Amino acid sequence: MSKIRAKISGVNAWVPPYILTNKELETMVDTTDDWIVSRTGIRERHIQKGEGLGTSDMGAEAVKGLLEKTGTKPEEIDLLICATVTPDMMFPATGNIISDKAGLRNAFSFDINAACSGFLFAVITASKFVETGQYKKVIVVGGDKMSGITDYATRETCILFGDAAGAILLEPTTEEIGIMDTIAGTDGSGRNYLHMKAGGSLKPPTHETVDAKEHYIYQEGQPVFKFAVTRMADVSAEIMERNNLTADDIAYLVPHQANLRIIDATARRMGVGKEKVMINIERYGNTTDATIPLCLWEWEKKLKKGDNIILAAFGGGFTWGSIWVKWAY
Ligand code: UT7
Repeated sequence: MSKIRAKISGVNAWVPPYILTNKELETMVDTTDDWIVSRTGIRERHIQKGEGLGTSDMGAEAVKGLLEKTGTKPEEIDLLICATVTPDMMFPATGNIISDKAGLRNAFSFDINAACSGFLFAVITASKFVETGQYKKVIVVGGDKMSGITDYATRETCILFGDAAGAILLEPTTEEIGIMDTIAGTDGSGRNYLHMKAGGSLKPPTHETVDAKEHYIYQEGQPVFKFAVTRMADVSAEIMERNNLTADDIAYLVPHQANLRIIDATARRMGVGKEKVMINIERYGNTTDATIPLCLWEWEKKLKKGDNIILAAFGGGFTWGSIWVKWAY
């Protein structure tokens, strides 16, 4: 019997309408459009405004659109995995809430937290459920409302992040397409450089933690940058080498969008020209778990069946990963 692989059979994304530009940020913190563009490549990002809206609302929109696009009924979905660092609440899982809001009555759902590598870790996990043959239609959602954990008085971080959600549908195939190979890694000793200080079991929320702004993103940019540049490039090169893929074989690199300079370094290391790199950081910033599906969604029409695509990410934890995908449609 031929091997069952998980193929990506659809992609969709949802971004909130409000656009926060570098110009508006100039009025909020001591920064300039010039600094932001030259250091990060970001020009604007989308922000989810309004009371009572969370990551699940963006995720549910992405999922509902995905079902419509792929002609899939909500009750056909067996499993939904949500990758997020900004869950609606500590529990239940945001995946549960997305499933409810999108009407997935027969799916079991859970969340994965691997910071900016979360979407890749969720795809790797989901692909295993498909490869066993037990599950036929699995959705992976990557979504984050980063504005909910961003301090808009801290210029080091508030210029970086945006809100969005993206979703893909995975289905079984016996063709030589789909998720072909995966690499994932973590190093928890990197946690000190990028984290949220309070709100978990280690330091539950108190008036003091709120006053000390410990419920916002804490990042030491330079060490994270250093690790990200080498790790994302290493892991992308490694997946090519071990599968005998040359730069000519690659149709697209789909990198996590944290910083244009990290993306450029990864592409250089792979020997892949800029025309083959999906880059939309200038319009969305770093949307954490949504960056990769957001790219796939925007480039979907250019992709052809059989295209070799490398997904690559690096994030807090530290976490990193790469996936070789043969596009399925
Ligand atoms: O997605 C998860 C993983 N995260 C990442 O991959 C992020 C990795 N890190 C980065 O992308 C970069 O480190 C940042 C974009 C966060 C910062 O860029 P940088 O080139 O590393 O800048 P820096 O932190 O070394 O700061 C350089 C200067 C400092 O001023 P002094 O000390 O030289 O006077 C900062 O205070 O730039 C200053 N600065 C700013 N100036 C204007 C920092 N933020 C800003 C700002 N506007 N927004």
